[in-house]
Amino acid sequence: MRVGVLGGGQLGWMLARAGDPLGLRCRFLDPSPEAPAGRAGELVVGAYDDPASLDRLADGAAVVTYEFENVPVSSAERLAGRTRVFPPPRALEVSQDRVTEKRFLESVGVPVPPWRPIGSRDELARAVAHLGCPAVLKTRRLGYDGKGQYLIETPGDVERAWAQLGAAPLVLESFVRFDRELSVLAVRGRDGAIACYPLVENLHRGGILRRSLAPADRVPPALQARAEQHARRVLEPLDYVGMLAIELFQVGEGLLANEMAPRVHNSGHWTIEGAATSQFENHLRAVTGLPLGDTGARGVSAMLNLIGALPDPASVLRVPGAHLHLYGKTPRPGRKIGHVTLVADSRAALDRLRAEVEPLIPPDPPGGS
Ligand SMILES: Nc1ncnc2c1ncn2[C@@H]1O[C@H](COP(=O)(O)OP(=O)(O)OP(=O)(O)O)[C@@H](O)[C@H]1O
Ligand SMILES: [Mg+2]
Repeated sequence: MRVGVLGGGQLGWMLARAGDPLGLRCRFLDPSPEAPAGRAGELVVGAYDDPASLDRLADGAAVVTYEFENVPVSSAERLAGRTRVFPPPRALEVSQDRVTEKRFLESVGVPVPPWRPIGSRDELARAVAHLGCPAVLKTRRLGYDGKGQYLIETPGDVERAWAQLGAAPLVLESFVRFDRELSVLAVRGRDGAIACYPLVENLHRGGILRRSLAPADRVPPALQARAEQHARRVLEPLDYVGMLAIELFQVGEGLLANEMAPRVHNSGHWTIEGAATSQFENHLRAVTGLPLGDTGARGVSAMLNLIGALPDPASVLRVPGAHLHLYGKTPRPGRKIGHVTLVADSRAALDRLRAEVEPLIPPDPPGGS
């Protein structure tokens, strides 16, 4: 069976490899001939809005999905006229615009930090006065890895923030003094079945995910249940099919949604070695109408992103329980070029592995943002 995928980055590369043993062949559309997924599946090089390239992607595909959410909704809709498209284009539309996303989350009962849409400098000054400082100004669209954001620490920062970002539609959010960041990874099948992975604890620096720990430590059943309820509240009204990630801020026992991704997610890479079924396999199972796989963890995992520079592969591979994934991308500051997953059978053993491997990973060189 052929699966068309919009986007050909490392997420696509990992999708293709998960699909291979199931007899699923992925074909990717990406504007770059260097796209990493091209090493694991067929690559159509073309623009996301080029009708001929979209037709080529859909040709013979039983289903089309995405590994990148900033593709035009009109392209997903065009494809939906020819074949099945999962997750539904509406999910793409909701997650592409932070204002639409927050309105949607609020409408289904998933709490988000206080926010205001911003269309002018005066509106920004009023919103800063209203929400208070610190607050984070973000572009409504096209942000990733913390790009398109400005931390407003005092009302005096409004001018500079506006000068930097004011050309695009914006949203202002209260800065959340969270206890920690978590993510919930959920999958919904074509038959409406839902499965959730154990909550993941995420560490970001400079707006970029650096490390995930899974299952997150200190998760009482009520917290896991609340996160799964949030996921269900998003999945069901959208009649969603596929993997969904919701990034969360934990404050006390409460969870605020930061954003959602209608695709496999960096905080789910640990599932390749650390769960019974990887997020990539479960995404493909869902969109092709196969039964969902077990989302249980096998032991405890740490996923370390390789950003801007690579470690010596041999030094990492010498450590039993360390798994190396190199995306084949040219290193650049701030760019995700691989990850290492450590799997152990206890937290104490995982801590020992981390103490051995984390020092081997070079820091991200300056200049990335
Ligand atoms: N309102 C906020 N309060 C506190 N921290 C925040 C807030 N918004 C963002 N951050 C911090 O910045 C990180 C990146 O923000 P966000 O997820 O909005 O950016 P992004 O560019 O969409 O990132 P990505 O797509 O890589 O997840 C968050 O994970 C969090 O650490
Ligand atoms: Mg994010």
